[in-house]
Amino acid sequence: MPEPIAEETLFLHKAEMGLGTWSWGDRTMWNYGHGYAENDIEQAFQSTISAGINLMDTAEVYGGGRSERFLGKFLKSTSTPVLVATKFMPYPWRLNRGALMRSLDLSLERLGLEHVDLYQIHWPFPPMPVEFWVEALAKAVKSGKTLTAGVSNYSKMQMQRAYTILSKYNLPLASNQVEYHLLNRTVEKNGLLDRCKELGVRLIAYSPLAKGLLTGKYTPETPPPGLRARQPMGRMKALPSLIAEMSEIGKGHESKTPSQVALNWLICKGTLPIPGAKNVKQAEENAGALGWRLTAEEVRALDNTSDKFTK
Ligand SMILES: NC(=O)c1ccc[n+]([C@@H]2O[C@H](COP(=O)([O-])OP(=O)(O)OC[C@H]3O[C@@H](n4cnc5c(N)ncnc54)[C@H](OP(=O)(O)O)[C@@H]3O)[C@@H](O)[C@H]2O)c1
Repeated sequence: MPEPIAEETLFLHKAEMGLGTWSWGDRTMWNYGHGYAENDIEQAFQSTISAGINLMDTAEVYGGGRSERFLGKFLKSTSTPVLVATKFMPYPWRLNRGALMRSLDLSLERLGLEHVDLYQIHWPFPPMPVEFWVEALAKAVKSGKTLTAGVSNYSKMQMQRAYTILSKYNLPLASNQVEYHLLNRTVEKNGLLDRCKELGVRLIAYSPLAKGLLTGKYTPETPPPGLRARQPMGRMKALPSLIAEMSEIGKGHESKTPSQVALNWLICKGTLPIPGAKNVKQAEENAGALGWRLTAEEVRALDNTSDKFTK
């Protein structure tokens, strides 16, 4: 029997999709300032809200704080309630528990908020053990500066340890944010997704479009630019046949695009995808993943194709 879902985390279970904001201000991976700028991301934000998607995911490290600052600025321009999730990076030089609360305070300042809805530990990095930072996270929830506690990139075992610590404080573990998409199904194969469901922990699927690969615009001949050009062996070769199948399936649902099929597949798997969008066109297209469902046979067919080349 799965654990009942804690009331304070219901907003995450009700949300079908969110918006990822890593590219907002980030120059290293996403080349902010080239091909898109503040006006574009503001329009992406507005169109996402208009589509009824009101969960935004950011992090203190995205664009060195620029993503949080942009989000804070855009939040002021809307009266629609927006749910904000951000993250703490346990850098190896952060050796004091108080670092988490100080980082949260700085995030709140950049966001212009008194509290966030979800605060996540970004990675289970050493040297400090899982318990060390989760204790600090529990304290942050008790302070009211975050309504819920989440983790990210935690394995099944690490997630269990986080869950156990939070339970001691009578707090639920709201979410585990991990990479999950049709080109990477590790969380299905290693049991993490099932364990999340058993514990009532929402699995937030990051890079749900495989950083753009599943949109169909990149091919082996025209790979993505910059750091994204480095792809695991075989992935680019396998991509065209998967995209062709996604396009074919999309046609049967009023011409849905590969991006929309990719996101809908994640929703059908019971997860919460948070696609990134650099402009209004991308945001609008991604919002079109909502309001319809792939059939069970279509999900199975996509599973079978992706099984041929995923870990
Ligand atoms: N917790 C973690 O460690 C972690 C790690 C990674 C990401 N995340 C979170 O997950 C979010 C999403 O992941 P992601 O940004 O890595 O990758 P993604 O959502 O898989 O891909 C986003 C990129 O794909 C392209 N794109 C998006 N929609 C498109 C559309 N409809 N048509 C054409 N191109 C489109 C855009 O880049 P181009 O136009 O340049 O191709 C966009 O920046 C992040 O913003 C972040 O919030 C978390």
